[in-house]
Amino acid sequence: MSNSPLILGVETSCDETGVAVVRGHEILASVMASQIDAHARFGGVVPEVAARAHVEAIRPMVHLALRQAGVHSDQLDAVAATRGPGLVGALMVGYSFAKAMAWALGTPFIGVDHMEGHLFAPRLEDGSFEPPAIVLLASGGHSQIVYAKRWGDYEVLGSTIDDAAGEAFDKIARFMGLGFPGGPAIDRAAEDGDPDSIRFPRALADRPYHFSFSGLKTSVVTYLEKAKASNSVPPLPDVAAAVQEAIVDVLVAKTFNAVDATGVQRVAGGGGVLANRRLRAKLQEQADKHGVALHLPSPALCTDNGAMIAAAGEFRLERGEVTPWNVDVSSSLRLG
Ligand code: KG4
Ligand code: ZN
Repeated sequence: MSNSPLILGVETSCDETGVAVVRGHEILASVMASQIDAHARFGGVVPEVAARAHVEAIRPMVHLALRQAGVHSDQLDAVAATRGPGLVGALMVGYSFAKAMAWALGTPFIGVDHMEGHLFAPRLEDGSFEPPAIVLLASGGHSQIVYAKRWGDYEVLGSTIDDAAGEAFDKIARFMGLGFPGGPAIDRAAEDGDPDSIRFPRALADRPYHFSFSGLKTSVVTYLEKAKASNSVPPLPDVAAAVQEAIVDVLVAKTFNAVDATGVQRVAGGGGVLANRRLRAKLQEQADKHGVALHLPSPALCTDNGAMIAAAGEFRLERGEVTPWNVDVSSSLRLG
C-alpha cells in the first residue's frame, strides 16, 4: 500500500466534522468533532448550528489529523471532501476548506458523493470487500438499498418514501424521553426488553425494496397514549425492543429481498443505524442462512467519518476524476 496515494478526507455533511489521512486501506489518522451536545437540546440537528460548529472545528480537526498521522500537508497527494448529499451550509464549510487547501498545496481536489463514501467504508477494514454486493445504507438522513455492480456503478433499488430509519429512531426516542441521538439510546434501552412484547406495524410489505417509517412513530404514540390512559404502560425496555424490532425487521427483510433477486454473494452496510447491535446480529443470521458474506464496518466507520471520504476519493483519483475548481457542493446529490 505504500505506493498508494496519501489522501486527506474531509466530511461535514451533517453534524460531525470528520477528518482522516488514509493511504490505500490504511487509516493513518481519523478524528472527529461531534456536535451532539450542541443539537441535543433541540432534539435534532439544526442546520445553522451545524454549519457554525463546522466552522469552529474544521481547522483544528485538519491539524489534528495531520499531526496524528505524522504527515505534513505538503506530502498529501490529494484532498477529498464530501460534495453532497447533506445540509448545504454544513457541506460548504468542509468542501470549501478542502478545496482551498488543495489549491494552496497544488494537489488535485476530489468532491466525493457521501453515499459512495459509505460504500467504501467496509473496504477500509476488509480489503476482500468487492462488488457485486447489496449494500444497506441507513442513517439519520438516508435509508437505501444499493446494488453495487462494480466500483462506480451503482443502482439504488429502493429508498425511504418518508423518514429515514435513523430519523425514526431519533423521533421515537424523543417521544419516549430517551434523548438524542435516539438510535444508541433505544439500542441500550432495548437490551433487557422483549422484542415480541408488542407488535408494531411493518410498512410497505408489498414493495420489495422501499421503506416507510413515518407511520411507526404515529403507532408508537397512539399505543403509548392508550396504554397511559388505561394505566397499563409496558416496561420501557419492552417498548424500546419492540420499536427496534419493527425497524430492524424491515431493513433486514428488504436487504435480503435484494440479495435473492440479484443472486449476489456479498452484503454490506453503512450509516449510523448499522451500529445497531440487533440489526448487526439479524443481518449476520440472514447472511449465514443465505450463505453469503457480510461486510459490516466497525461502528465508528458506520457513522460519518473522513476515512470513508478519503477511500472513495482515492478511487475517483485513480480514475482521473479530479473535480474542477468551479464545481460546488450539491445538497441533493444522488448515487447512480
Ligand atoms: O451516519 P450518521 O452518523 O449520520 C447521518 O448521516 O445521519 O447516522 C446517525 C443516525 C442517527 O439517526 C442515530 O440515531 C443513528 O444513526 N444511530 C443508531 C445507532 N447509532 C447511531 N441507530 C440505531 N442504533 C444505533 N446503535
Ligand atoms: Zn452518512
